[in-house]
Amino acid sequence: MEFVTYEVQDRVGIITISREKALNALNSQVLDELSQAFDGVDQNEIRCLILTGAGEKSFVAGADIGEMSTLTKAEGEAFGKKGNDVFRKIETFPIPVIAAVNGFALGGGCEISMSCDIRICSENAVFGQPEVGLGITPGFGGTQRLARLVSPGMAKQLIYTARNIKADEAYRIGLVNQLVKAETNEAGEVTVSAKDALMAAALKMAKCIAANAPIAVRNCKKAINDGLQVDMDKAIVIEEKLFGDCFETEDQKAGMANFLEKDKEKKLKVVPFKNK
Ligand code: CAA
Repeated sequence: MEFVTYEVQDRVGIITISREKALNALNSQVLDELSQAFDGVDQNEIRCLILTGAGEKSFVAGADIGEMSTLTKAEGEAFGKKGNDVFRKIETFPIPVIAAVNGFALGGGCEISMSCDIRICSENAVFGQPEVGLGITPGFGGTQRLARLVSPGMAKQLIYTARNIKADEAYRIGLVNQLVKAETNEAGEVTVSAKDALMAAALKMAKCIAANAPIAVRNCKKAINDGLQVDMDKAIVIEEKLFGDCFETEDQKAGMANFLEKDKEKKLKVVPFKNK
């Protein structure tokens, strides 16, 4: 693939959007390659994914404005669907996905981060939905996910004003889970860059997730995602079924036996998803 790379560290997969010359903007090819990258993840081995952008400056600076500039109404709708299909694949991917946001996360960049389960950003991150300044609406889920993630009022303010916000404000309004700063020594010199510190924090969180029972983690993601789409009476039934499913797993037997034996040294015995 030309614009997307994939690497594995232990049981964590790292997908990187790598089109630095255009600040990792999403054109059709990048969207296709992202879709292929997710399709290629070995779901029996990988327990958590990290999605990031190449370089220090930009996570993703949005959908490709050059490509969009000549679209007709029907083509615009089709382009929106193309992005939405990929982002929905990420959102419903069985394994948790952490967005490690380095720099600009504008338009489609903010939107792709919101399709991930968790957002961690570096202190130079900038979030925003600048679309109305370009004469369009957010088109890859921004009107829906921002309103659900922060609040309808805050989403409306950010979208109507097209105002970009810095990392600390994104953290304050709950758009990001964690803000990571570059490390400095006593002289104030940078010893670990913002990007390296961000990736270390994302990997630490991903490995923490990967150490837990994978079927239980997947069932938690499904319970939260599916439950949020329905009323509470239906939502708790979704939870009950996924909770019940766990009692067919070796992880549940091993995890509870370890507790009852008071053997703190024993690691949870985790089984591949396909053995469920
Ligand atoms: N699409 C295409 N190319 C882009 C791009 C985008 N979204 N964002 C940046 N680039 C390109 C620039 O055209 C430039 O290319 P050239 O070197 O060939 O001229 C290169 O990336 C570097 O960008 P700048 O020179 O502009 O860098 P800067 O540091 O001066 O500014 C920036 C950075 C503030 C992010 C600025 O590039 C910018 O405002 N980008 C557009 C951001 C935006 O509006 N995103 C939303 C797009 S619409 C959308 O995403 C719709 C949707 O919901 C689906």
